[in-house]
Amino acid sequence: MRDGPKRESDMHVRILCSLLGVIVAAASGCGSNTTAVGTTDTSATGDAMPEPMPDGLAYAVAMDLDPAPDVVEVNLEAKVVNVDLGAGVVSMWTYNGVLPGPRIEAKVGDTVRVHFKNSLPEATTIHWHGLRVPNAMDGVVAAQSPVEPGAEFTYEFVVPDAGTFWYHPHMRSDEQVERGLYGAFVVRGPNELTVTAERTVVLDDIALANGQLAPFSEDDAMIGRQGAVLLANGRAEPMMSLAPGALLRLRLVNAANGRYFRLGIRGRPLNIIGSDAGYLPKVETVDDVLLVPGERVDVLVVASGVAGDVLELVNLPYERGHDTGGEAERKVLSVHLEGAPITTPAVPAPLGEVAQLPTAAVFRTLRLQEMEMAMGGGHGGHGGATGTMMTFMFNDKMPPEMERFTAAANSVEDWKLVNTTEMDHPFHIHGFRFQIASSNGVASQRRAWHDTINVPAKAEVVIKVQIDDRKGAWMFHCHILEHAERGMMGVLDVD
Ligand code: C2O
Ligand code: CU
Repeated sequence: MRDGPKRESDMHVRILCSLLGVIVAAASGCGSNTTAVGTTDTSATGDAMPEPMPDGLAYAVAMDLDPAPDVVEVNLEAKVVNVDLGAGVVSMWTYNGVLPGPRIEAKVGDTVRVHFKNSLPEATTIHWHGLRVPNAMDGVVAAQSPVEPGAEFTYEFVVPDAGTFWYHPHMRSDEQVERGLYGAFVVRGPNELTVTAERTVVLDDIALANGQLAPFSEDDAMIGRQGAVLLANGRAEPMMSLAPGALLRLRLVNAANGRYFRLGIRGRPLNIIGSDAGYLPKVETVDDVLLVPGERVDVLVVASGVAGDVLELVNLPYERGHDTGGEAERKVLSVHLEGAPITTPAVPAPLGEVAQLPTAAVFRTLRLQEMEMAMGGGHGGHGGATGTMMTFMFNDKMPPEMERFTAAANSVEDWKLVNTTEMDHPFHIHGFRFQIASSNGVASQRRAWHDTINVPAKAEVVIKVQIDDRKGAWMFHCHILEHAERGMMGVLDVD
């Protein structure tokens, strides 16, 4: 029901609109805004119900240029455009002129080919966050040359896992991602759930000053840059409507530099069905869920109630260190119940299978550290008023002297992540997925695939990493992008 074929034409209109952006928007009715579209179209959702309210969460899908059923071929162009965020028109760096960048849709086993063109004023790359791709396609500068302004690069890989992934640059990512370079990448498996409606929702926040992106500053370094405006699919407080009783699937992606989203809907539990990569074995019903930078979660919400009810997805306070917990609860998006009630489709159990990993052959310890470094007076912009600079590291090392682990192909390793700092860090590994073995010495009963997890302040988390035969140098780092850029980055060499 989710993405029935009858939506195809609709989808193509949307894609065209997003590709042509500024030029056609005003004339063709692609969107009500004067600039980037794709987040403002009015396409229908499921097949079953009318949806009179414009869908503020609608999200442009990248057009597949290859007719072969198992090949997805798309064009992505990084470029600067003005985007209407619903909180002002802001000059952003985008893929194809839309924020978020077009959603890439593929099936497990598909070959995905992305023709990338860099029309930005600086070099960039694209990293496919969470996708188990060959090392040469991973988008890090250890594996490819930067794509210079005006240059092109073609990424090509097979997508092996179902889940909600995303893509973003891996050069100066603290600035490039903040400027708007991110998009979702959905890979569907053969047995996807039947729901009334599904939305992929990419979350971000943005700091504005005089209506444009606030200048980047050393003050962003400690907790990662945060902004006062919360964005869901590039819009401040978007709305959508659903029939009472509808079953809504939300694929949530945290694309923010530093912000932790703790998400809940008052009076409606969240039913977690999937983690970063794929379904959980069974539904977990919670009041709220923490989503750290880089991470994804897949939830079902039963839109119980009557026409006229409004469900608000809110961001709840969360203390991740340095007095970050004081922020008030904030609305992220709302779902308005409209029309005749419908009956929710049943959720099957089990949802999926998550293999149990064998006992690890190798144990490693990775200490997450921070250090305030004194800067000699007047070092070009760094250091601010205090004359210090925050740096972050793993095991006392930071680039260029990064911690390097060498692993054997097709092995399982336990990594103990020891957070020595007074703040949480979202830890991410490229190329490989892992399960949580224990937290603070307590064994985890939960079976789920992750590529990004939170390591709370002063905590110890042991992860079990599944390494396959894709050789090369794979990055691991904190996904607070300012921390990664300031040293909390290492390399896993697989040979
Ligand atoms: Cu999304 Cu190296 O990260
Ligand atoms: Cu960090």
